[in-house]
Amino acid sequence: FKGCVPSRYRSNREPPLDKGAIPWLGHALEFGRDAASFVTGMKKKHGDIFTVRVAGRYVTVLLDPHSFDAVLQDRGSLDFSRYAQVLMDRIFKLRLPKYNPGEEKAIMRTHFQGDSLAALNATMLANLQALLASEVAPNRTDWKRDGLFSLCYSLLFRAGFLTLFGGEQNNNGSDAGLVYKEYRTFDRLLTKMARTTLNSGEKKTAGGVRERLWRLLSLKGLSGESSPWLRQYRRHLLREGADGDAQTRAMLLQLWATQGNVGPAAFWLLAFLLTHPEAMAAVRREFGRAAQGGNRLEQQQPTPVFDSALEETLRLTAAPFITREVLQDKTLRMATGHEYRLRRGDRVCLFPLVSPQMDPEIYQEPEKFKYNRFLNSDGTPKREFYKGGQRLKYYTMPWGAGANGCVGKPFAINAIRQLVFLVVSRLDVEPCDPASGVPAMDPGRYGFGMVQPVGDLVNRSLSGLPESLVSRQML
Ligand code: HEM
Repeated sequence: FKGCVPSRYRSNREPPLDKGAIPWLGHALEFGRDAASFVTGMKKKHGDIFTVRVAGRYVTVLLDPHSFDAVLQDRGSLDFSRYAQVLMDRIFKLRLPKYNPGEEKAIMRTHFQGDSLAALNATMLANLQALLASEVAPNRTDWKRDGLFSLCYSLLFRAGFLTLFGGEQNNNGSDAGLVYKEYRTFDRLLTKMARTTLNSGEKKTAGGVRERLWRLLSLKGLSGESSPWLRQYRRHLLREGADGDAQTRAMLLQLWATQGNVGPAAFWLLAFLLTHPEAMAAVRREFGRAAQGGNRLEQQQPTPVFDSALEETLRLTAAPFITREVLQDKTLRMATGHEYRLRRGDRVCLFPLVSPQMDPEIYQEPEKFKYNRFLNSDGTPKREFYKGGQRLKYYTMPWGAGANGCVGKPFAINAIRQLVFLVVSRLDVEPCDPASGVPAMDPGRYGFGMVQPVGDLVNRSLSGLPESLVSRQML
């Protein structure tokens, strides 16, 4: 019974404790409504470390980036996979008999690095080109009305799905489209599933769409069409004793892990470029030089201006919580030398969006998009940022960090770069109302990777390409 949780008091060696006014729930509502505003407010009140009560759990938030290694490097007392399993159960209804995150990750690494990565990137590009060509065909008008977010998410999702989960581009194109349509319904409810705040209508919708996605994914990974990674992952699940149901559920989990962030990231980057002409001109110039007048951007070709614009985009819009469970009582030593006790069973959370990514001490005018923020004056990548006079190891963390950092980073960056290249170099796109800027962020999505926009950015030329232009721009 929820009311029976014993009262908790702060000992003087623990971080400031803020239980919130509502018994048991504590700060859960504010946290879920807009975690960035909530954490920023708590930082003003308590400083760089504090413990809040959130739905019966105690979460210590650490905001001093100089002290992040105390969390990221301690794999003995702090655990990544327990909380991940809680979310797997809540969102995907997945419980694996012998969950072995280390091996899953090792499998992924072998397929998303080196020669295998080059092959995956090439397939991804071919799928993207074919999908974009069919989108801009003169007889297609639906996506043109939908706006930029839909365009980016749907293209990258379908191309990624075809690349990793298989399916014939031409014969089975509607398959990827149908999976995307169902996935978006699922995705809209995802944060509420994670927080267990679905109302009864939403629960029904979530249950229905999950079932439909399971059906669509049930055979994926068995056929020769799917990627070598997915086939090996399936074999791993079988060895670990996962039955058919669990395997299908695991497919949906992997669909989210591999496709959920790439489309939104590409959207924000294109949205910033389209509303910042100077940035767009710089990226266009660089692409022009890099592709040497041709229509291909080679995988190895350096594009520091694009990289900086992407890093700046992610600084503003990548908002994961980096959460670890405290397995045993622990002393956390801050960079200042100050020590705090953490209790077993609590969680520790970094929220890099608030700190370091939006910290005005590190970034001048942190709320503004400056495409060259991550470039030195000689055009080389800028990696030196300071806080309190000391150089920072962690100045942005869109991909997480440490042992649990993102395995798919190079694949994701390549996919985003190729899509932006194709759109920027082949289409004549401009927003309908450049003065309105990029859409606002949906504050309910903070904590789950890339944020998503409220509404969309509608582009004029996407909704009204003259036919002659369309054919000239065909891929
Ligand atoms: C823009 C796109 C992406 C972003 C912003 C992103 C972000 C992240 C972040 C922040 C984490 C760390 C979570 C933590 O420490 O709690 C993570 C982990 C992970 N990502 Fe990504 N990711 C992206 C795309 C991808 C793609 C395309 C793949 C696979 C192909 C992928 C696979 C993974 C995996 C497997 C992990 C878990 C690592 C582990 O178990 O330790 N991600 N990602």
